[in-house]
Amino acid sequence: MSRIFITGSSQGIGAECARQLIAADHEVVLHARDAHRAQAATAANPGAVAVLTADLASLTQTRALASAASEHGPYDAIIHNAGMGATTQRELTEDGLERIFQVNVASAYVLTALLPVAPRMVFLTSGLEADGTWTPEDLDWATRAWDGRQAYADSKLHDSMLAFHLAGLHPESAVNVVDPGWIRTELGGPDAWDEVDQGADTQVWLAVSDEPTAQDTGRYLKRRAPLSPNPIAREADARAELISRLERATGIALQ
Ligand SMILES: NC(=O)c1ccc[n+]([C@@H]2O[C@H](COP(=O)([O-])OP(=O)(O)OC[C@H]3O[C@@H](n4cnc5c(N)ncnc54)[C@H](OP(=O)(O)O)[C@@H]3O)[C@@H](O)[C@H]2O)c1
Repeated sequence: MSRIFITGSSQGIGAECARQLIAADHEVVLHARDAHRAQAATAANPGAVAVLTADLASLTQTRALASAASEHGPYDAIIHNAGMGATTQRELTEDGLERIFQVNVASAYVLTALLPVAPRMVFLTSGLEADGTWTPEDLDWATRAWDGRQAYADSKLHDSMLAFHLAGLHPESAVNVVDPGWIRTELGGPDAWDEVDQGADTQVWLAVSDEPTAQDTGRYLKRRAPLSPNPIAREADARAELISRLERATGIALQ
């Protein structure tokens, strides 16, 4: 039996990962944005060990989530699943960061820095990662004309970069990034091609399977198969710069 922490598991792909893992007798710690969303998380997965709450648009709450999650660990796997889609306007959080960058990238960075690295680490990217641009001097869109779709694509490129950086730092762990496909969820929308169980399968396999190929590291996977990521994600200098900028933006260092 494994213990797995899944961010953004009140609904969608995260809740489905939890459902599949609990059905296979694993212990799952859920995460929801607030007490109201925690009720949805519990309703979807009453067999979970615990539901932790934090708005990932807040550094203070994300730090507190790391502490709470530590108390329920150690984990055999962590799935950094939480994410938000494109917004029509550039929005700043209480920390003064652009919201998509903070929720999709900085929060995963903070949790990664503050929690022990698990033997298996899974980050969620997207097929739109291929369209991501590397604009280190303007990660939170202070100078560019706002483009919400591009901000989302960039954030998913940053998630791949974060995962591959961590894979380099921790060769003892299997650290991978997953494109779940276009999945019918709130984020994916009603026209998406695939059902949520397909969108969860690869992350669940990476989290608990004994198959040797589930335990390789540093890969971009879709439907359990390795694909080529955006070439920027393979550039060590770019990854190091992203980590350095995340460290400055959050005040937290990645060991
Ligand atoms: N669906 C797709 O087609 C697709 C494709 C590629 C990649 N992905 C990725 O897959 C992951 C899961 O997406 P999904 O389709 O399952 O989306 P979803 O149904 O909208 O679920 C997103 C989850 O993230 C949580 N979340 C969002 N903002 C948050 C915040 N500020 N604080 C705390 N939690 C927050 C949500 O909590 P609330 O319930 O409180 O909002 C929810 O649990 C994301 O990383 C997404 O980028 C999805």
